[in-house]
Amino acid sequence: MGLRAVLLGVLAFGLSAAVSAADPVVIRFSHVVAADTPKGKAAEKFKELAERYTEGAVIVEVHANSSLYKDKEEMEALQLGAVQLLAPSLAKFGQLGMREFEVFDLPYIFDGYEALNKVTQGPLGQQLLSRLEARGIKGLAFWDNGFKSFSANSPIRRPEDLRGKTMRIQSSKVLDEQMRALGALPMAMAFSEVYPALRAGVVDGTENPHSNLFTQNMHEVQKHVTLTEHGYLGYAVIANKRFWDRLPADVRVRLERAMAESTAYANRIAKEENDRALEAVRAAGTTEIYEPSAQEKAAFKRALIPVHRTMEGRIGSELIRAIHRETGFESSGH
Ligand code: LMR
Repeated sequence: MGLRAVLLGVLAFGLSAAVSAADPVVIRFSHVVAADTPKGKAAEKFKELAERYTEGAVIVEVHANSSLYKDKEEMEALQLGAVQLLAPSLAKFGQLGMREFEVFDLPYIFDGYEALNKVTQGPLGQQLLSRLEARGIKGLAFWDNGFKSFSANSPIRRPEDLRGKTMRIQSSKVLDEQMRALGALPMAMAFSEVYPALRAGVVDGTENPHSNLFTQNMHEVQKHVTLTEHGYLGYAVIANKRFWDRLPADVRVRLERAMAESTAYANRIAKEENDRALEAVRAAGTTEIYEPSAQEKAAFKRALIPVHRTMEGRIGSELIRAIHRETGFESSGH
């Protein structure tokens, strides 16, 4: 049989002999948030589609809520090949030496999902993902979460209200600088440690999209949430590159299709999941939700936008400018 016939045979009769339902490839997909979040649901969607499209030749095990690894450990586990797939927040790539991913943490850099998606779903996003290859990582997709609110146990109306407060951040130098610009004291810690730290008073407050706030019960230990939408939190879905490259080509194509469809799903549900979580926080009655006025928002912007300039050296002024151009940030009067 010639090569062409073999290829046609593979296409016609399913997956290559190297991978079959009798001897499935196991993909361990670890993440740190609850199953009932945009990322948690998208991970489950990927599992469903990947297993269906590969006709059982691939099994995806999703480990949610830091049940397998916490933030820093999961990055190491991926590089060592102990897990095959992750979706860490973009803020966490600085730990890998990928400082340019911290550009997504710059306060107010995106006006909303539309501006953000011009970057994540466009050529700049693709360039960023391809830079991961040098670290042995295959960047597969960007998944949205949403825009962050500040929370604390006292009202947050003005930037000065955070002065002197200890605020939990993800491990990102940009977020560190953002908190310092407000006169707050940033404390980086793993996501799984945030609720106990808030409860024990080790930190006074934090920032997160509402889906994370609600599903970790942070609202039970935070009396005030202010809808500042001062920054974005989203994810890059990444694979161990050696693992990904060694998959039989026909399996990889099917997994790429599952990834493309779960990415569309993730980005479709992200906003509504966050809106739903905010309503759930409201219904819980534990927390005052404050909607800042246009003037109050402008005061937060004045305090935080200088961080774009101070972080140029770390992230690269070219990249910041390219994003400003792509999103129309420069022409929007900042
Ligand atoms: C956080 O640590 O606050 C987030 O990155 C968690 C997540 O994965 O959404």
